Amino acid sequence: MFESIRGKILDSRRIVFVTGAGISQESGIPTFRGKDGLWKNYDVMQLATIEAFYDHPKLVWEWYNERRKNIFSTEPNLGHRAISELEKFVKVTVLTQNIDGLHQRAGSTEVLELHGSIVEIKCTNCNFKSEILSEFTRIPPLCQCGNILRPNVVWFGESLPQDVWQKSIIHASTCDMMIVVGTSLVVSPANTLPIYAKQNNATIIEINPVETAMSSYMDLSIRGTSALILPEFVSIFKE
Ligand code: APR
Repeated sequence: MFESIRGKILDSRRIVFVTGAGISQESGIPTFRGKDGLWKNYDVMQLATIEAFYDHPKLVWEWYNERRKNIFSTEPNLGHRAISELEKFVKVTVLTQNIDGLHQRAGSTEVLELHGSIVEIKCTNCNFKSEILSEFTRIPPLCQCGNILRPNVVWFGESLPQDVWQKSIIHASTCDMMIVVGTSLVVSPANTLPIYAKQNNATIIEINPVETAMSSYMDLSIRGTSALILPEFVSIFKE
C-alpha cells in the first residue's frame, strides 16, 4: 500500500506525525466527530469552554473525571507502539491534539501536546501544576491556595501553549515527511500543520478510514485504521 512512495519513505530523515483522536480509538477512547463521536451526545459549548467551566464547574469536572477514569484504564494500541518503534530507524516527532498521554506511554520520546494534557491539573489562579493520576473525591477540586483546579487542557476559545505551538511549526516546516493520523483536520490551528510541511516540499500521507477535509491535499491517503496501517508502515524499515 506504500509501494508508490517506498523510496521516499526510506530516504526520509525527519518524520513528523500529526495525530488526533482516531489514533486512540482502538484503545477504547471515543473520537469527537463522526458516528460515535463525543460531540454527538455532548454539547461542546457546555463542556469545553472556559465560560462553561466557570458557569458549571461541577458538571464540567464530572465529565472530565469520567474521561480521566476511562483514559487511565486504557493502554496504547499497536498504532501508538508503531510510532514509538519507528524511532529506532529515523528521527520522529509527534505533534498530537490528544490529551490522553498514550503516545508517551507507548514510549515516544518527542511528543508535543498541542491541546494540553488531561493527566495534568493546574490552578485557575496560582502557578500550581502537577500530574495527578488519582480520582478527585471532591468536585470541583480545590488548590491549596483555595481556588478551583482545572485540567490542563486547551478549551475552545483558548490559545494553544505558545511554546508548544512555535516548536510544532518549526518541526512541521523542517520535516521531509508528515504522516497525519486519525484527525478530521477541522480544528484550527492544528489543521494548518500540513500546510507548513508542504511549504518545505515534504511528502504528506494521511491514515484515516474515511476521507477528511484535507484528503485532496495529501500525496497519499490510506484508508484504514491506525492500529492496522502503522505497523505496516514501520515494517518497511525492517525489510
Ligand atoms: N484509526 C484512524 N483514524 C480513525 C480511527 C482509527 N481507528 N477511528 C476514527 N478515525 C478518524 C475519524 O475518521 C476522524 O477523521 O479519526 C478522526 C477523528 O476526528 P475528530 O473526532 O474530529 O478528532 P480530532 O481531529 O482529534 O479533533 C480535534 O477537536 O473537540 C476537539 O479538542 C478536541 O483535540 C480535539 C480536536
